[in-house]
Amino acid sequence: MQSNRAASKAVSQDAPIIIVGAGAWGLSTALHLRQAGYTNVTVFERAERVPSPYSAAWDINKIVRPEYEDGFYTELALDAIKGWKTPLFGPYFHQTGYVVATTGRAPQKAIDHLHDALKSIERHPTFAPGIRALSSSEDFKQFTWQYSGRLTGFKGYFNRLAGYAHSSDALAGIWEHCARIGVKFVMGEKAGKVEKLLYSSTLGNETLSTDVEPSNGGKCLGVRTADGKEHLADLTICAPGAHGASLIKDLGRFVVARCWSVAHVQLSEEETDFLRGIPTTNVRDLGFFFEPDPKTRLFKLCPLGTGYTNTLSDGTSLPPPERLPPPQDFIPYEDEKKLRQLLRETFPWMADRPFVEQKLCWFADTKDSEYCIDYVPGTQNSLIALSGDSGHGFKMMPIFGSWVTELIAKGKQALPRWQWRTEDLRGKNWGDSVSWRIGRARELQELIDEKSKLIRARL
Ligand SMILES: Cc1cc2nc3c(=O)[nH]c(=O)nc-3n(C[C@H](O)[C@H](O)[C@H](O)COP(=O)(O)OP(=O)(O)OC[C@H]3O[C@@H](n4cnc5c(N)ncnc54)[C@H](O)[C@@H]3O)c2cc1C
Ligand SMILES: *[C@@H]1O[C@H](CO)[C@@H](O)[C@H](O)[C@H]1NC(C)=O
Ligand SMILES: *[C@@H]1O[C@H](CO)[C@@H](O)[C@H](O)[C@H]1NC(C)=O
Repeated sequence: MQSNRAASKAVSQDAPIIIVGAGAWGLSTALHLRQAGYTNVTVFERAERVPSPYSAAWDINKIVRPEYEDGFYTELALDAIKGWKTPLFGPYFHQTGYVVATTGRAPQKAIDHLHDALKSIERHPTFAPGIRALSSSEDFKQFTWQYSGRLTGFKGYFNRLAGYAHSSDALAGIWEHCARIGVKFVMGEKAGKVEKLLYSSTLGNETLSTDVEPSNGGKCLGVRTADGKEHLADLTICAPGAHGASLIKDLGRFVVARCWSVAHVQLSEEETDFLRGIPTTNVRDLGFFFEPDPKTRLFKLCPLGTGYTNTLSDGTSLPPPERLPPPQDFIPYEDEKKLRQLLRETFPWMADRPFVEQKLCWFADTKDSEYCIDYVPGTQNSLIALSGDSGHGFKMMPIFGSWVTELIAKGKQALPRWQWRTEDLRGKNWGDSVSWRIGRARELQELIDEKSKLIRARL
């Protein structure tokens, strides 16, 4: 099909480049490639429209905060926040301030994490002036006067220079912008869904096209979509979020598809107005919430926990193939309990309201929460894997793509933390050890079994 050229370090600016996935990272990559002068960029996306219901950023909001245990990410988040304040991204950014707390019953792990993360900003020249320690319920009420709950034992801090971004609006807005500046989009379950990556493999003196992943040598030639069409490219950039291992099998050795719960309370117009402007609030041992979305009047809540995996027989975890109920439009009982407790402590008038739009949302997790932004080994710089967002990748959307253009310009990933991993972590249940998550990592199937037991008990 194509001759086996020697590994070239950089692709030329008019070379065909394919991006798989129009999520937060795929779109950011398209934007930055275009801005860097690449003229032939095509994004394949399985959904008909952006935001895709398969994107981890599909819902209404995501926390944008700079505090990390590792100062490396604090500096990146600072750059990202500058990006959120530009005319292109600004409409989606809301600097409501960010309150982080633990309750009086928090396990030590949650308290330690709060202090470790606070260290990264409390002396930082940009953030320090906007930080206030909070040690009583009166302190918390200075920033959220609407609280009527008891805030039992709440302790923590307020960070003025953080907040949230409206994630589905940001995805849609950047999608439209990319289309306007000349990025091509191929959308939908047939034309846009990538089923296979195509590789060249050398058999004797002949070069064949194959969809078998090369173990070493061989180039990625492009993609085959669900309608059977083959699309060729000099460089393929794979960014399908939690679905990475379905296209690059070896990713499943060190990246785990994991999901967290999302739930909402439907508010009235008055209730939405009442809560307008509250800081994004993260109670480390229970969960987090945002100011209500003025358009839908939904008040979003997420429990904090280790999340759930869906481990297949080969030891890799992938999201279940279809996003249909059941099993994914519910949240587990243990998460519901946490969220109701969170509401009882803060806004008790909401604590017994029904939870609507319950969802399990999938992301790509790594053991050390480090991203993977690298060439896939053995593909002669023809295939880049963007993976391992570890549940903290959305905030980087304004700048993420610049790291990919840098990678392409340099021809290799110089930062060890973002390199492709060779260790095989399948079957090693490392989910509980992540410092910022409390609890035991469990399997989706356990939850489904639990739920059907609950339903049977009620019948
Ligand atoms: C519940 C939850 C809460 C989160 N909270 C935060 C937060 O507060 N702050 C933060 O910074 N981050 C947060 N995140 C993480 C953030 O959402 C992700 O880091 C980010 O969305 C990753 O972007 P991505 O482009 O890698 O993947 P995604 O946004 O998931 O996008 C992947 C895209 O690929 C498409 N796709 C998949 N397979 C194919 C295929 N075969 N062919 C074509 N297209 C395909 C999908 O349709 C989708 O559009 C959270 C995640 C979850 C699940
Ligand atoms: C982009 O690349 C594709 C695939 O090689 C090619 O068919 C198309 O003509 C190119 N478009 C432009 C504008 O160069
Ligand atoms: C491949 O090698 C065989 C045996 O050496 C030869 O007969 C054949 O012509 C070669 N094919 C090509 C395409 O060069």
